Amino acid sequence: MKTYLVTGGAGFIGSNYIHYMFKKYGNNIKIINVDALTYAGNPENLKEVENKDNYEFIRADICDKEAISKIFENNDIDRVVHFAAESHVDRSIRNPEVFVQTNVLGTAVMLNCAKSAWELEDGSFKPDKKFLHVSTDEVYGSLEEDGEYFYETTPYAPHSPYSASKAGSDMLVKAYMDTYHFPANITNCSNNYGPYQFPEKLIPLIINNALQGKNLPVYGDGKNVRDWLYVEDHAKAIDMVQEKGKLFETYNVGGHNEKQNIEIINIIIETLQEMLPENDPRKKLVSKDLITYVEDRKGHDRRYAIAPDKIKAEIGWEPEIMFKEGIRLTIQWFFENEDWMKNVTSGEYQKYYTDMYSGK
Ligand code: NAD
Ligand code: DAU
Repeated sequence: MKTYLVTGGAGFIGSNYIHYMFKKYGNNIKIINVDALTYAGNPENLKEVENKDNYEFIRADICDKEAISKIFENNDIDRVVHFAAESHVDRSIRNPEVFVQTNVLGTAVMLNCAKSAWELEDGSFKPDKKFLHVSTDEVYGSLEEDGEYFYETTPYAPHSPYSASKAGSDMLVKAYMDTYHFPANITNCSNNYGPYQFPEKLIPLIINNALQGKNLPVYGDGKNVRDWLYVEDHAKAIDMVQEKGKLFETYNVGGHNEKQNIEIINIIIETLQEMLPENDPRKKLVSKDLITYVEDRKGHDRRYAIAPDKIKAEIGWEPEIMFKEGIRLTIQWFFENEDWMKNVTSGEYQKYYTDMYSGK
């Protein structure tokens, strides 16, 4: 039975990954989820699995060397899947330092603890130990022209403090692979959407605001392009890279689903109008009149577009959920989990975990 150490598993992608892995492997794996529970971490995302015998939650900061090395000492970890990060670009523009702290120093701690636990006396590593670093397409910078794509060979050119800190963390992983032959992979994925996404990010923010008849803020001219992938397809890609990919390689993950932000907002409004029943009072609130152009994000990258050729050719990964279906699944999830959204927007979710993990 393999033991996974997942960092940041209480966040959006990490929690979807944990659900995906238990759905796929059942009781044949053990998952230890280490998460500091920042504002972005929400144990409610994992309510369905928290009592499983093969799941353990440890509240710890990845920058805390002692806490992380203790986890490696107490467990024979086979796989590390490293999601934990500060992830929101707007926050990085307001407060860059914590991004450097968590994303760069935290990754250094994870690498060093895994290396110490897995390294043999001759400098080689115990067999079948693997570290997967979850990164982003934003490290490649910004594309201008249609028809240009980010490949694994595209030079790094990050612009925001967030993407610069992720680029720094990727470089550390590359340095460990080059210097120590440390058994790792990096994935660089495009924008994710789906259940449990924190409503500071475009898609859940627009769904939540539209249902309440609140303004829908569009940065700049609304024509910036992002390449959207349903989160479960990302979870599947991570698992496939770790099990079928070549060690030491980077894989780009994306589904060729480029859309301008304004298109995304229009699709969400149209889909909400289709999906809401006639007698639902929110139906009258949802309207394109709510669209409000606001000041642009500083240093706003124009276009991201992933070329997923390598992961398709080498590993056979392809996205299964196309955007039309994915956005309906996401909206349906938000309809069925109104309390989740209420707890998040009211801050109640933070009380839940503070009580829970302070032993109350
Ligand atoms: P998120 O913000 O939803 O979750 C981050 C999680 O990390 C939270 O649970 C938080 O509590 C935890 N965390 C933060 N700082 C920590 C620390 N110091 N120690 C321990 N835990 C800490 O992020 P997400 O959107 O799920 O992104 C997960 C990873 O995937 C990140 O590395 C991000 O860069 C990458 N990524 C995200 C996207 C996207 O579209 N969201 C796309 C590509 C890659
Ligand atoms: O590309 C992958 C990245 O995608 C991840 O690495 C990041 O962790 C993740 O946050 C995401 O970054 P973006 O900045 O692309 O996502 P965000 O949802 O913040 O914004 C998407 C686009 O929508 C972007 O062009 C800015 C715009 N936007 C965003 C918000 C929150 C708006 O126009 N209005 C808004 O209110």
